[in-house]
Amino acid sequence: MDGLTVIDHPLVEHKMTLIRDKTTPTAVFRRLLREISMLMAYEALRDLELEPVDIETPVCPMTARKLAGKKVCFVSVLRAGDGLLQGLVDLVPSARVGHIGLYRDPETLQPVTYYCKLPGDIGARTVIVVDPMLATGGSAADAVAKVKAEGAKDIRFLALIAAPEGVATFRATHPDVPVITGALDERLNDHGYIVPGLGDAGDRLFGTK
Ligand code: PRP
Ligand code: URA
Repeated sequence: MDGLTVIDHPLVEHKMTLIRDKTTPTAVFRRLLREISMLMAYEALRDLELEPVDIETPVCPMTARKLAGKKVCFVSVLRAGDGLLQGLVDLVPSARVGHIGLYRDPETLQPVTYYCKLPGDIGARTVIVVDPMLATGGSAADAVAKVKAEGAKDIRFLALIAAPEGVATFRATHPDVPVITGALDERLNDHGYIVPGLGDAGDRLFGTK
């Protein structure tokens, strides 16, 4: 699928199997999500710009490279996005962080917004919007629209698991925003849940079933 990267790495696939398993307890689920997010960051951040910097190693001077300019902003789609956020912030501690509170109405499956706080300079940053589940794609499309409304242009969407229907809807709405996912699953069921998926990501992350 155009604009979709499915991460293909044995360590990611192994951890995805553990996190999908319904017997995996909350504490382990949380830890796995953090670990997988770090591995996914490798793909999501691979084209960040670098600039030269002069340093001295204990052996000699050298021109090395470091990240250039205003850098990264992570945007977590609450609640479950916070599970992916942790590992990313560990890797890029200077990143700015935004939050968008959305829940999916269980009847209509339409996203309902209850919170939005984004950094003022988001337009100058590479923005990674994170949410473990890209199901119908409604929440992801809404979240990215809010980020664009604040001036962001360089945006990617990072999902742990995506459904083909959700990717198609999202890409039709935001063809300029690539999607990076740990797995592209089979389909949605009648309740809009991803099959096979992992169930309700927020409930599994926070133990709120
Ligand atoms: C989940 C998930 C996404 C959304 C995906 O959140 O974290 O935000 O569903 O579904 P969609 O692609 O069909 O819009 P949920 O609505 O369960 O809210 P929560 O994280 O607050 O539990
Ligand atoms: N939200 C979830 O948490 N899981 C799904 O499978 C779909 C939407």
